[in-house]
Amino acid sequence: MTVHQSPVRLEAALKVTGRAVYEAETPMAGMLHAALIQSPIAKGRLLGLDMEPVRGMPGFADVVSHAEAQALAPSPPLALVRESAIHFAGQPLGLVVAETLQEAEACARAVPLELSSEPAVTAMSQALDTAFAPDLAGRYPPSSQRGDAAAALAAAHLVVRNRYDTAVNNHHPMEPHSVVCAWEGDRVVVHTGTQAIFLTRRIVAHSFQIPMEQVRVVSRFMGGGFGCKGPLWLPWLMWAILASQRTGRPVRLELTRAQLFNLVGRRQETVQDLALGFDADGRLTAIDHQVLAQTATHGDYSDATATTARSLYGCANVTTGHLVVRTNEPLPAPMRAPGVAPGTFALESAMDEAAEALSIDPVELRVRNYADRDLDADKPWSSNGLLACYATAAEQFGWAGRPAPGKASDGRWRVGVGMASSVYPVHRQPCRVKVLIDADARLLVQCGTQDFGQGLYTAMGQLAADGLGIDMDQVRVELGDTDLPEGPFTGGSMVTASFAPAVEDAMADLRARLAELAVADEASPLAGADASDLIFAGGLVRSGSGNAAESLADLVARCAPEGLEAEGAATPPEAQPSSANGYGAVFVEVGVDPDLGEVRVRRCVAAFAAGRILNARMAHSQYVGGLTGGIGMALHEHVDTDKATGRIVGDNLADYLIPTHADMPEFDITMLDEDDPLLPSGIKGIGMLGSAGIQAAIANAVHDAVGRRVRRLPIRIEDVL
Ligand code: MOS
Repeated sequence: MTVHQSPVRLEAALKVTGRAVYEAETPMAGMLHAALIQSPIAKGRLLGLDMEPVRGMPGFADVVSHAEAQALAPSPPLALVRESAIHFAGQPLGLVVAETLQEAEACARAVPLELSSEPAVTAMSQALDTAFAPDLAGRYPPSSQRGDAAAALAAAHLVVRNRYDTAVNNHHPMEPHSVVCAWEGDRVVVHTGTQAIFLTRRIVAHSFQIPMEQVRVVSRFMGGGFGCKGPLWLPWLMWAILASQRTGRPVRLELTRAQLFNLVGRRQETVQDLALGFDADGRLTAIDHQVLAQTATHGDYSDATATTARSLYGCANVTTGHLVVRTNEPLPAPMRAPGVAPGTFALESAMDEAAEALSIDPVELRVRNYADRDLDADKPWSSNGLLACYATAAEQFGWAGRPAPGKASDGRWRVGVGMASSVYPVHRQPCRVKVLIDADARLLVQCGTQDFGQGLYTAMGQLAADGLGIDMDQVRVELGDTDLPEGPFTGGSMVTASFAPAVEDAMADLRARLAELAVADEASPLAGADASDLIFAGGLVRSGSGNAAESLADLVARCAPEGLEAEGAATPPEAQPSSANGYGAVFVEVGVDPDLGEVRVRRCVAAFAAGRILNARMAHSQYVGGLTGGIGMALHEHVDTDKATGRIVGDNLADYLIPTHADMPEFDITMLDEDDPLLPSGIKGIGMLGSAGIQAAIANAVHDAVGRRVRRLPIRIEDVL
């Protein structure tokens, strides 16, 4: 167990004592409670909601459905709220508000539904003819070609060609989605745990056709997100806001755990055809990676699953493609290393097969195929620490001394080892930050991004404290409110990379203002000094070249008794001169029970190179979280649709398996020092990096233990027996 000395979370005491108010807990007088009416069928049309039997029920206040929602302006992410068409089982058909939650639920259950039903598509295999090339969030083209992969495969010394399948997964943050909303005249306040307060504000303002200034969205604490607290939740939130407007009372809606299985996104199912070609020395001569994945009939979403194969390794001939198939199932969304996790499962499993066929050590095979630049974007790397990750993790793991395949055991367990590479691209969004110092030299940092539990309060507070040479306990951080300066979406491992340069910019501005005050003030020991020569450290402002100094608190109390504020901003440039990724190498040891088919991860050693680490304690914790999620994807998580009804089977946390403490191995995680001067503040982002790679490492270790190649996730008992 690694103990890191970096600061503990600023908000830790608030959270462990229950004083941190999550948005669902926002108190409001006279609040109504909401419950959703959901479709029992997977495809058809809502002909009507017969509210007559419900209007006289205890507590009933109002109902909102597509008919009432015609009052909202159309908006593509919200299409469902204004439609009578039914696209998937569980789709909300209406929202009832009542005096208590129990009354709202009773009313929702009692509404007779008039439906017309049509045959539903409940599996990708039923609708392959609808396959089309998706838009990959506008970030990547859906297909790519470099060189001639077909010709290179035909001429290759070795071809490894397989199909890989990955299951639907759900995110399942501890805190379900919720909203508490209220109108004050023509202004609405929306308390909701969301990864995107500013996007939420834009869509609410558009839907209700009011200026953005009349919408305030608040999301101060969140019990996790993992990609499902983005826009997918907005349709049902909009109905709650409409119900609040119609009744003139605050409304509260909280999703149930079962509703998290179909209303807020999922990791899409994939079927991946991958072919790798090698020369006799183990150098990749060809990659062909074709991905087929699920999307819904009411929206387009696809992960960028094959994009990793375009650039992770040096290979002259690469073809990739994505297709999606529409089914009457929930719409997918980004989830924990979207695309990269399923994509590297295929790529890194195939690399292991190639290593075996070529009799080359799996680490050595990857080293031989290291890409010294981004061949896909035709740019240099900003930095690429992959080779150092292999070397460090292999050493820590004891890779060189591992037993021969199939030879290790421990009691009833057959023991095997495996490894894989991990990678995640660096993303950034524009960010603005405001800092205010008061007469007691206490600093307030404000930014309208949101912390979904990863520790942004602390990371931002640390940077600000460092920027002024003061202690963390002098700093307060406010996040998660659209009244604050606009910050990035929380996701894609981009928040710290986005805000760090903005905070550093704001602190430079604040230091410059304070320095000007000091050198211009006859009462200061620094009077007449060169403002650019002043240093802020240890609570002092001092001359860099001389001995003069005074305390920051004295300077502020004397020269800025009203306090002083400064602002900072950072915007990613349109065209990046280099390609930036975080990298990792993950090594695992598994035990496989050959009689029961049980697979357990016994040991996990990983090394990551992902730029500057602001807080090693929190970063370590994020890697543990990411790797644990990866174990879930590899061994546990699987959402099944009943093919006859289109309904989710086992929509609860007893049936949807996730790794528990007993499933977690000892983690040995090394964070390599990486100085990347090409990136603003040297930050790359780490959240997703731990979530990819480990799936293939586990499958490769299972093969090492029992000689079975498992090419689908999760790995099931029957796959290893
Ligand atoms: Mo993330 S999967 O963008 O929360």
